[in-house]
Amino acid sequence: MKRKLLVWVWLVFLGILNAQVHKDSPNKNISSDSPINKRVATLLKRMTLDEKIGQMTQFAFYGSTATGAVVDSNTIIHIRRGEVGSLLNADNFEVIRNLQKEAVNNSRLGIPILFGMDVIHGFRTIFPIPLAQSASWDLALIEKCESIAAMESSASGINWTFAPMVDISRDPRWGRVLEGAGEDPYLGSEIAKARVKGFQGDKIGSANSVLACIKHFAAYGTVEAGREYNTTDMSLQNLFNFYLPPYKAAVDANAATLMTAFNELNGVPCSASKYLLTDILRNRWNFKGMVVTDYTAIPEMLYHGNVKNEEEAAIASLNAGVDMDMQGSVFLKNLKQAYLGKKVTLKNIEEAASRILKLKIMIGLFDNPYRFLNEENLRNNTERPEFDATALEMARKSIVLLKNNQNILPLSLEKKYTIAMIGPYSADKTGLNGEWSLSANKTHDVSPYWAITKKIEGNSVKIIRSLGCTINGTDTAGYADARRIAQQADIVLLMMGENENMSGEAHSRTSITIPDVQRNLMKVLKRIGKPMVLILTNGRPLDLSWEDANLDAILETWFLGRKSGDAMADILFGDYNPSGKLTMTFPRTIGQVPIYYNHKNTGRPYSLATSTERYHSVYIDVPNTPLYPFGYGLSYTNYKITDVRLNKKILNQREVLKVTAKVTNSGKIDGENTVQLYIQDLVNIPTRPVKELKAFGKFLIRKGETIKVEFSIPVTEFSFYDDKTNLIPPIGEFKLWVANSSDDNSKEVNFAVVK
Ligand code: GLC
Repeated sequence: MKRKLLVWVWLVFLGILNAQVHKDSPNKNISSDSPINKRVATLLKRMTLDEKIGQMTQFAFYGSTATGAVVDSNTIIHIRRGEVGSLLNADNFEVIRNLQKEAVNNSRLGIPILFGMDVIHGFRTIFPIPLAQSASWDLALIEKCESIAAMESSASGINWTFAPMVDISRDPRWGRVLEGAGEDPYLGSEIAKARVKGFQGDKIGSANSVLACIKHFAAYGTVEAGREYNTTDMSLQNLFNFYLPPYKAAVDANAATLMTAFNELNGVPCSASKYLLTDILRNRWNFKGMVVTDYTAIPEMLYHGNVKNEEEAAIASLNAGVDMDMQGSVFLKNLKQAYLGKKVTLKNIEEAASRILKLKIMIGLFDNPYRFLNEENLRNNTERPEFDATALEMARKSIVLLKNNQNILPLSLEKKYTIAMIGPYSADKTGLNGEWSLSANKTHDVSPYWAITKKIEGNSVKIIRSLGCTINGTDTAGYADARRIAQQADIVLLMMGENENMSGEAHSRTSITIPDVQRNLMKVLKRIGKPMVLILTNGRPLDLSWEDANLDAILETWFLGRKSGDAMADILFGDYNPSGKLTMTFPRTIGQVPIYYNHKNTGRPYSLATSTERYHSVYIDVPNTPLYPFGYGLSYTNYKITDVRLNKKILNQREVLKVTAKVTNSGKIDGENTVQLYIQDLVNIPTRPVKELKAFGKFLIRKGETIKVEFSIPVTEFSFYDDKTNLIPPIGEFKLWVANSSDDNSKEVNFAVVK
C-alpha cells in the first residue's frame, strides 16, 4: 500500500512538473533510416561531455526497491540535466510515461531513457523461480515463459530486463541459486540461450520484446562459503570449463547487455576486471553489447580495496570495459575530471555512450520514445488467460517427486478418506511466488488448500487443515491443534518449507534444513503414525535427510508462482505425472557442500573404499553420495532404457557421434521423461570429471510404449580448456551413459576419439 501511495504521489508530482517545453531532438540533422552508427556519430557530435557521461549513468527510480545504498531522490533533476541514460525499478506505465516525457521534453537533446527492471520469472503473471523452471528441462517452455514476461513487461514500458542470471553454483547456502539453472555448465548454457531468445525474440527490438542482460559476470555463484557477496577465486581451467560456458552461450545468443558481478574474482572486482570485460568478453567472445555494473558495484570498490577513491574507481571501471554505472553516480561525479586529467580517453567515454545510444536506436526509442507505452498493448498484452495456462504447465513440469514409498501418490479421488493439510503453507494467502516477483499481480494466486478443495469437490474426499506453526520462530502453541487434525485424518499433507525471504539475494544460510519449528512439528506428527507427504516450498536444495528417512513421500515444489496451488493439486491427484528432475544436487548434510555430480575421481576414489579399507576420499560419518543427485526425479511410472547404440566406436575430431537408445514406459500412466547423455573423458590433463552432461531430451512416452531416442553430438563438444585457457580437442578413450539420472550407470558404452 505504501509503495502504491508513493507511486501516485510521484505521478502527481511529475504531472505538475511536466511543462511541455519544446526541446531539441536526438534525430536532428539525420534521417531515421540512416545507418545506426551514423545516427550515433551525428548525435555524439552535438552532445557535451556531461551529456555523454549522463548516458552512462543509471539511477534507481526514487521510491523503488533498493538492493543496496539508498536511491538518489533527485531523479527528475538529473533527467532534466541530461544525466540519466537509464532508470531501473520503475514498473508502472503512467510513472514510466511521465518520466520519459521529462527526458524527451525537458532535457536539452531529448534523448529517451532506457527503463530496466528485474523481470526474473515473470512480470504480472509470475512463473516458477528459475531454479524450478530448470528442473523442467523443457527449453521451449522456458523460452515461452520468458517471451510472456517480455510481452507483459514491455507493455508496461519496460525496455530491459536484468536477466537471465546464468551463474553456475554448487553451493545451496547461497540464496541466489534460486535465480539460476543449477550446477551444470551444459544445461546452464542451453537454458541461457532459451531465456535470451524468450526475452529478445528473433532480434533485438522485436515487437513485445525486451533487452536481455547476462548476469552476473563472472562466477558469482562460487562465493566462498556460500556467503553472499563474498570472494571468488579459482583456477582459469575451472573458470573456463565449469563457469564461463553459460555466459558465452548467452553472448552467442546475441544478448544485448551484460551485468558485472559484485564479487572480486582472483583478486580483482569484476567491474574493474579488464581480463573479464575486455580480454575475454570483447576480444575472445566478440561481445558487441553494452556492459552495466551491478547496483553500486563501482563505489563498492573502495571497500574491495582495489582503488583508493571514487575517481580511481570510475577510471578502473571505464578502462576495464564498463559502459553504464548502475546507481553509483561515480561516472557522473568523476569521469569529467578524470578526462581533463588525462586519466581516461574521450574515445573510451564515447565508445561507452555509443553502445547505449545504439541500443536505444535499435529498440526504436529514438523514432518513438513512447513505443513501449501504448495503452492498447497494455490492455491486450497483460495477464491474458493463456498466460495462466503456461504458468500452470511450467509449474507442473517444475515439480520434482523425490520420494514415493509404496506409491502412496497419486492420491485417489474415488475412495472415501480424509486429508489433513498441516503447516504454514496450508494457509490461504501464502507467498508462493518467491523472490524477484516485485511486480506480481497476486490477486489471482490460488493457495494449495483452495486448489485441493476445488479438486476434490463432489468426491468422497474430505480435507481439514491446521497451520501448526509459522515458517520460522519457536512458537509451538499450534502443535496441539495440528495433532488433533492429524488424528482425524487418513493421510497428512505437510505444507512446509522456507519463506520468500530465506532465499534469493542477500539470503545465504549456514543451515539448509527446514526450520526447526516446522521439523519438530513433523516429528510430533510422525508419532501419530499416519502416512505423511511433504509438499516442500523452498528456493534452494535443502538437507532433507530426516524427511527422507521418516516420511512416505516428498514433492519438491520450489516457489511455483501464480499457479502453485493448482499445479500441486494436479500432481497430488495424478492429473499430471511428475516429470521434474533436479538440476542441483541435494546433499545429505551441509557438511558435504560443495557437492556436485561432475566431480573429479581423485587418486583414492570413493568407489574403491571398503568398510575396512578407509584410506580413500571419504568421510568417516557420511557417505560421499548426495541424498538426491543431479538429474534425479521420480515419476508415477517407470522408464527403462535399453539398446544403447553408437554410430561408430572410433571417431575423429571432425565427426559427429550419433547415439540411439530405446526408452520404455513400463507403467500404467503416460509420462514425460528427461533422458540424459553423459560422457567421461578417461585420461587427460587437466583431469576430467567422472561425468559430464552432453545432451538431453524430454520425451512424452505413453503407458506401455517404447520410443527410440537419438542424440547427435559433434565430437568437438567434448573439448575442454587447459590451465592456459587453450581449448584442447578431445583425444582418447571415453565412457558414455544414456541415463535417467546422473547416478544411473546401468547403460554404459565406450568409444574413442582419434586425431
Ligand atoms: C541487485 C542484483 C542484480 C539486480 C540489480 C538491480 O543487487 O544483484 O541481480 O539486477 O541489483 O536490481
